[in-house]
Amino acid sequence: SGSAAQGDKQEPAAPSKLVVGGFFALWYFFNVIFNIVNKKALNMWSYPWTLSTVQLGVGALYCSLAWIVGLRKPPKVSWGLLKALILPSFGHTLGHVMSCISFSLVAISFTHIVKSAEPVVGAMAAALFLGETYPLPVYLTLIPICLGVAMSSASELTFTMAGFATAMASNFAFAMRNVFSKVSMKDYKSELTPANQYGLISIMSFLMELPFCLFFDKGIPKLTSTAKVPVPDQTVLKYLLACSLLYHLYNEVSYSALDNVSPITFSVGNTIKRVIIILTSIIVFKTKILPLNAVGSAVAVLGTFLYSYSKQIYVK
Ligand code: 3PG
Repeated sequence: SGSAAQGDKQEPAAPSKLVVGGFFALWYFFNVIFNIVNKKALNMWSYPWTLSTVQLGVGALYCSLAWIVGLRKPPKVSWGLLKALILPSFGHTLGHVMSCISFSLVAISFTHIVKSAEPVVGAMAAALFLGETYPLPVYLTLIPICLGVAMSSASELTFTMAGFATAMASNFAFAMRNVFSKVSMKDYKSELTPANQYGLISIMSFLMELPFCLFFDKGIPKLTSTAKVPVPDQTVLKYLLACSLLYHLYNEVSYSALDNVSPITFSVGNTIKRVIIILTSIIVFKTKILPLNAVGSAVAVLGTFLYSYSKQIYVK
């Protein structure tokens, strides 16, 4: 997820608006297509553990190749850096697999509504582990977020407890990743490009998830479609590779976007991204939405904007 390392920024560079706008545009573009292709892949081949591992593996391969053929300067890797990357990578792995399981269980619009509450969990984690507290008005904005998520959960037609819980678990995992990243990566930030940082996280996360995916999916699943109306193996393979590449690309550009803006701008950008995905996926998958669900989603998303806005105003 792009919200990696929120708050890690140390020396704001001054890139042109065009470049930063370009990062955001690419991030949204890759992310929206990723979400659609990923859901289609899960519909035809329901192995979220293996799918999420392949996605990390393709990213790991992509970066390794870029380093080997000299397209990208490889990072200087020390034991200290590897140690610093362990916990952020663990948070990334867990957040990623939990999102993927949730996507496989409920409508992706619903997963993203629950995921729009990520800043709430982030605020809790920052208070608990970093001692960062905010003035009361900031916390008050968490009320509409929770209320909105509750309203849309109550009226979501595809709702399952497991789908909700895994989406929520991904919020906790990503919030932990951001806290870990802020603490452990601070000495290494200046020597790592955003793409290289994400590349190293992909390699580590791939290695971390691999044993679990082999365990939960009982070895490496065949490409045989699990859908009621099965598709050919080649189609499954094409979707698998396409969503994996898109997954890596959207995350990589989101790291570059984050590197160029404040964490709050990034967080607002991430919420706008969710609104776009929610609307697009409802259209593409013809998801049926009850009025209460639509109102709940709007309240939750509005709450997230208010949260970022009040943080900007009250936290100096
Ligand atoms: C994942 O699979 O990691 C999720 O797609 C993350 O979603 P996000 O980047 O929108 O948080």
